[in-house]
Amino acid sequence: MYVKAYAKLNISLDVLGKRNDGFHEMLMVMQQVDLFDDIEITVDEGNGNICVITNRPYIPQNEKNIAGKAARLFMDEAGITDKNISISIKKKIPVCAGLGGGSSDAAAVLLGMNNIFTNAVSKERLFELAEQLGSDVPFCLLGGTALASGRGERMEPLSALPDCWIIISKPEFSISTPELFNKLDSCKLSFRPDTKGLVRAIEKGDIKGVAQRCYNVFEDVLSKRHRSIVDSLKDMFITTGACGSAMSGTGSACFGIYEHEDTAKAAFKVIKERYKDSFLINIGNESL
Ligand code: C5P
Repeated sequence: MYVKAYAKLNISLDVLGKRNDGFHEMLMVMQQVDLFDDIEITVDEGNGNICVITNRPYIPQNEKNIAGKAARLFMDEAGITDKNISISIKKKIPVCAGLGGGSSDAAAVLLGMNNIFTNAVSKERLFELAEQLGSDVPFCLLGGTALASGRGERMEPLSALPDCWIIISKPEFSISTPELFNKLDSCKLSFRPDTKGLVRAIEKGDIKGVAQRCYNVFEDVLSKRHRSIVDSLKDMFITTGACGSAMSGTGSACFGIYEHEDTAKAAFKVIKERYKDSFLINIGNESL
């Protein structure tokens, strides 16, 4: 079974506060994008072994990999003990970038296995398994455009983002997610995204209104060095014609939203020279 595991972007990201369970209350507009890892799931007769291989040696190759954890959760839930599962992941989504790469691999494994085992697990239960795997996994299972709240697992589907072009680039540093959440706890945020206005702009199909409201509160708590790298990348998007830009998740990937194809294609040539981990993506009307 071959499955595509699509990346996500946080068009906006707000943190509303810390919860008693240690997680944070979030409010995010999330978008699935046409940048994906290739996943192949093979099932053989066996005794419940799970093997994961990837094309990146620094990623765990066994059940420590979130895709392997997803397979184990699925097998336990469906009571499958007489099969071995091999998962081969060809990673194309940059790792530790805020693009949900691991989460989308896990979601794709849940979907793929439920397909192989002819819906052995109900849709509702699949979302509960996704939530156990990580805060972004439920959105990766849902896809499209959504307003996510709670830990990230409560989702309200939104209209598709208006037709536009997005450039995603990852600078050459990665950020620890728990560390950034901790920093946020000790700061008073000076700016918050206009999430309501953003949702209204999406519903109206107003791409400029969307782009102007892209904002991620984590940008405010980056170290001075990381902040200047992120700011200069975002400046590059704007000076090449983007009508808005922001960092995705806990970074370090950032994105710029372009209204027109020719501007985006010209910008991509320039940006790709400087940031080799860059992707040009069309957001169309058809779902992925
Ligand atoms: O859920 P996930 O495994 O992706 O979360 C990774 C880490 O990010 C958590 O251990 C926690 O430190 C932080 N986090 C959080 N609040 C959220 C999501 C993640 O504090 N809503």
